[in-house]
Amino acid sequence: MLLEIKDIHVHYGKIEALKGVSLEVGEGEIVTLIGANGAGKTTTLKTISGLRNLSSGSIVFDGKDISRLPGHKRVLVGIGQSPEGRGVFPGMTVTENLLMGAYARRGDFSKDLDEVFELFPRLAERKNQHGGTMSGGEQQMVAIGRALMSKPKVLLLDEPSMGLAPMLVAQIFSIIKRINERGTTVLLVEQNAQQALQLAHRAYVLETGTVVKSAPAADLLDDPQVREAYLGGALGQH
Ligand SMILES: Nc1ncnc2c1ncn2[C@@H]1O[C@H](COP(=O)(O)OP(=O)(O)O)[C@@H](O)[C@H]1O
Ligand SMILES: [Mg+2]
Repeated sequence: MLLEIKDIHVHYGKIEALKGVSLEVGEGEIVTLIGANGAGKTTTLKTISGLRNLSSGSIVFDGKDISRLPGHKRVLVGIGQSPEGRGVFPGMTVTENLLMGAYARRGDFSKDLDEVFELFPRLAERKNQHGGTMSGGEQQMVAIGRALMSKPKVLLLDEPSMGLAPMLVAQIFSIIKRINERGTTVLLVEQNAQQALQLAHRAYVLETGTVVKSAPAADLLDDPQVREAYLGGALGQH
C-alpha cells in the first residue's frame, strides 16, 4: 500500500475528532472518503498532510512511518494537498499561485507548468490574471494545479466540487480521472457521494470520527444504507 493509516486518534483540545480511523490507499488508486458534515474528513486529510498532529496511531507512506514528520517535509516525500476552500492567493497571478506549489523543489518548472496548463486550458488563458478575480471553479483548478506542481505521489483533494455549478463539477471530476490515469494516486474527500463513488475504485464511509464502511465504490452505490444516508434514497440514479 502507498498510504496506510492505522488507528489514528486526533483531538481539537478535548474534542476527539478522529476516534481510531484506519484506511489504506494503494498505488494508482482513486479512493474516496465520504461522510456528512463534521464526520472528520478534513481532519483526516490534514493529519495525512501534517497540518494536524495525531494523538495516537500511525501513518505509513511509501514504506516509511511519517507520523511525526513535519508538514513541509511531507510535501517532499510526495504528499500533495488541495485544501478545503481552495486557499488561492488573491493578489498573485495564476502562474505565481501555481509556482507556490513547487516551492519545496528545485529546478526548471516550465515543463510542469505546461502540464498543468494542458490539464486546465482555462488557466492557460488566464495565467496572468490575479487569483482573487477568478471564479470559484477556476480557483478550484488553481488549487488542484498548485498541488500537482509539487509532483505528488498521492494527491489529497478536499471537496473539490464544493460550491460549483453542475457542469463545472462534472469537469472537475473528469480532470481528477485524467490526473489519475497519468499515474497520480488520489484520495478524494467529497460530500457529493454519488459522483465520488462513480469515479473512485474504493471508498470509505466516515461517521463521527469512525470508519463505518469500506468497500469497492461500485458496491457502495448499491448499498441500501449508503443510498439512504448519502445518495438521496433508494431510487437515486446512477
Ligand atoms: N479547528 C477546530 N476546532 C475545534 N473543533 C474542530 C475544528 N475543526 C474541526 N473540528 C471538529 O472536528 C470534527 C470533524 O471536523 P472535520 O474534519 O472538519 O469534518 P468534515 O470535513 O467531515 O466536515 C467536527 O466535530 C468539527 O466540529
Ligand atoms: Mg471538511
